[in-house]
Amino acid sequence: MKNGVEIKPATGKLGILTPGMGAVSTTFIAGCLAVLKGIGKPIGSLTQMGSIRLGKRTDGRNPLIKDFVPLAELHDLVFGGWDIFEENVYEAAINAGVLSKDLLNEIKGDLTAIKPMKAVFDPAYVKKLNGTWVKKGANKMDLANQLREDIRNFKSTNNLDRVVIVWCGSTEIYLEPTEAHSSLAKLEKAMQDNDPAIAPSMIYAYAALKEGVPFANGAPNLTVDFPAIQELAKEMKMPISGKDFKTGQTFMKTLLAPGFKARLLGLSGWFSTNILGNRDGEVLDDPDAFKTKEVSKLGVLEYILQPKVYPDLYGDLYHKVRINYYPPRGDNKEGWDNIDIFGWLSYPMQIKVDFLCRDSILAAPLVLDLALFSDLAARTGMHGIQEWLSFYYKSPMVPENLYPEHDIFIQLMKLKNTLRHLKGEDLITHLGLEYYD
Ligand SMILES: NC(=O)c1ccc[n+]([C@@H]2O[C@H](COP(=O)([O-])OP(=O)(O)OC[C@H]3O[C@@H](n4cnc5c(N)ncnc54)[C@H](O)[C@@H]3O)[C@@H](O)[C@H]2O)c1
Repeated sequence: MKNGVEIKPATGKLGILTPGMGAVSTTFIAGCLAVLKGIGKPIGSLTQMGSIRLGKRTDGRNPLIKDFVPLAELHDLVFGGWDIFEENVYEAAINAGVLSKDLLNEIKGDLTAIKPMKAVFDPAYVKKLNGTWVKKGANKMDLANQLREDIRNFKSTNNLDRVVIVWCGSTEIYLEPTEAHSSLAKLEKAMQDNDPAIAPSMIYAYAALKEGVPFANGAPNLTVDFPAIQELAKEMKMPISGKDFKTGQTFMKTLLAPGFKARLLGLSGWFSTNILGNRDGEVLDDPDAFKTKEVSKLGVLEYILQPKVYPDLYGDLYHKVRINYYPPRGDNKEGWDNIDIFGWLSYPMQIKVDFLCRDSILAAPLVLDLALFSDLAARTGMHGIQEWLSFYYKSPMVPENLYPEHDIFIQLMKLKNTLRHLKGEDLITHLGLEYYD
């Protein structure tokens, strides 16, 4: 065992702010409160239920992650956020229709007390929505300053020690990085000049980092995935991560594809389609928002399968992803995959996956883990892109010139090894010395 990294203790209260208080955010908040009341379990959360093996298998050391590294505890969390609709978290959760009214009524008082702050929003970036609970400002820098004030007020009113932000807002239209995103100075000038290249989610990210608040991005928007914000994250010594929670269909893909590759089974086609009827589905019905999601979903196979290394197996793969807005299903998405694979002597086979999932039930524990791990990272001084959190994302951010790791098992190993490293434990590479003894 080596020396670990100095980690500031998780003393006092941690505020978790979410821009966007829709289905995911309210399911997350209500879920944490339900767990605290003993009326539910935090299923799906690594920070709450996961364990970590330490040392040799024969050592029998397998503590819970939350007992191994100092994480904020559920009873020390305070929730808040912003939305373009004024409804409180209880009302928003009822409208989202994810959790039962009976469950929500048991924590109604706490949920009703959480009211969104006015959002920074522009319908040019989310074409299917328009809200009234929106800030006005002279320019985008002025709006960022208003968000900074919100963060400071939230911190002082609730007597918080620290704050983290997890973006749970709608998916914005597809944007590529421009000159305005290339350096912090240019970003700040673009914000003053109201440059259309600066989307609302970037304004939140800028405000967060300026206030010394880590930022995790649950949507596929550009948001923190460009040099100017990364420069700011370094300057402020704050962690950032993204993009796009890995939950339903893409989660399945990153389970299956590494298996096919491990067995050297070929793939000729992978057709994925979804029906969903929540507000997220409605927003994604706009082609510009869908494009953002599509790019995020398509990258996965390319990186896992390495078609350049395995041209016979994956060089001619047809990959298609579709999302269809279908209101009757609400948040209960159905994701179908038709996978055309081939084996020995190219004999073809098919696999059909039909995942009848619940989008926000899958996403809520990811919000919790990202908030707690981002806070841990900040307390250890880890700043910039947190690649070890790739485990949670469909389209993990990586430093320039690196490609993202999509294989969920490699991602999990990286996450756990990061925790082992922080505590000075030996990293586990599964290359046991017994092979050589
Ligand atoms: N549920 C999942 O499994 C999953 C997986 C990956 C990514 N996501 C992403 O997470 C995000 C949230 O999903 P959801 O199902 O909660 O959607 P939702 O539509 O229920 O909630 C999003 C909320 O964000 C608000 N909003 C939009 N722009 C805003 C802004 N600029 N500032 C503040 N609020 C704003 C909307 O009014 C809405 O209430 C979406 O971008 C979605 O694509 C969800």
